[in-house]
Amino acid sequence: MRKGSIVALLGLAVIAGGVATAVALVPTWLPKDASREAGRIDFTFWFVIAICIAIFAIVAAVMVYAVIRFRVQEDDFEDGPPIHGHTGLEITWTAIPFVLVTAIAIVSAIVLSRNDAEAGNTLRINATAQQFTWTFGYPDAHDATSPVLRIPEGRSVELDMRSLDVIHAFFVPEFRTNEDIVPGLVTSVHITPDRLGTFPLICNELCGLGHSLMRSQAIVMKPAAFDAWLQQQGKSAAPAPASTTGTTSTSTTPSSSSAAGLSVFNANGCSSCHTLSAANATGKVGPDLDKLLSYAQQAKQPLAAFVHQSVVDPNAYVESGYPKGVMPETFGQSLSKTQLDALVTFLVQSAQKKKG
Ligand code: CUA
Repeated sequence: MRKGSIVALLGLAVIAGGVATAVALVPTWLPKDASREAGRIDFTFWFVIAICIAIFAIVAAVMVYAVIRFRVQEDDFEDGPPIHGHTGLEITWTAIPFVLVTAIAIVSAIVLSRNDAEAGNTLRINATAQQFTWTFGYPDAHDATSPVLRIPEGRSVELDMRSLDVIHAFFVPEFRTNEDIVPGLVTSVHITPDRLGTFPLICNELCGLGHSLMRSQAIVMKPAAFDAWLQQQGKSAAPAPASTTGTTSTSTTPSSSSAAGLSVFNANGCSSCHTLSAANATGKVGPDLDKLLSYAQQAKQPLAAFVHQSVVDPNAYVESGYPKGVMPETFGQSLSKTQLDALVTFLVQSAQKKKG
């Protein structure tokens, strides 16, 4: 090989490698990380990217060089010389990818096992996904639930995730965590948040009509603020004296039950799908709850009975123009009797107010 060819090839490789490196580094491809796991995932990512850039530089240099240097002359109709086998080359192009792929596998295995390693004093949180909402339960606080994920900075957190209906996926880009949530299984992710802030929490698996709306937030708090919040939740979630309300009724004091119903509405993500002005909800997937009175008339049912049925057996009557089978059948069962009554009362009252 002539010295000039080697210099030309090297020059082309440097240019191609420089362009690829600029494309990799200049735009901000990844959101700023916010967990220790994210740092390790990023390391794997950049490790693979560096290998890719090196391979790209070599391939692009050889290709561009060959296209220019060995371009066929206009009056040349001959075939090239037949070449068969080259043991040295074949060993080289088998060995190099073998080494690179093995290196990537080893780095990935180390990173994944470190990310999944059980740390001491892990905070356990139950995550429940359903069409199209998230609920986070805190066993340390009498199973108090929250529609957003609150976690303390610096502490190892394990999310044990369950789905009530179809496959969803938990994804917080800043944490670099993505894990499927599969009905019948409990899957988990580990997060050790290391930056305060509020980050988008996204369902990352197409799960139905409201998939794009199935979003929440992950809020990383100072440990002291988190403990205070958790204690507060623990108090309000402490088992209340057993309710004696027998049937779905509006007999409880309107203001208190209305507030309770509103909090059930908010805690269960109803606003992802429904419009209801009393709750400032503007969802468009399911029926407009400001029109409950006219829906009940069309279903030929008294308002309260209609609302109750629509919660516990959502497919019994579906307003025309809205798809069947989207509202989770399991939703009613996930509420306690008190919560269900409060929700129905709240919806009935806001529908009556709407009319009056
Ligand atoms: Cu749940 Cu997409």
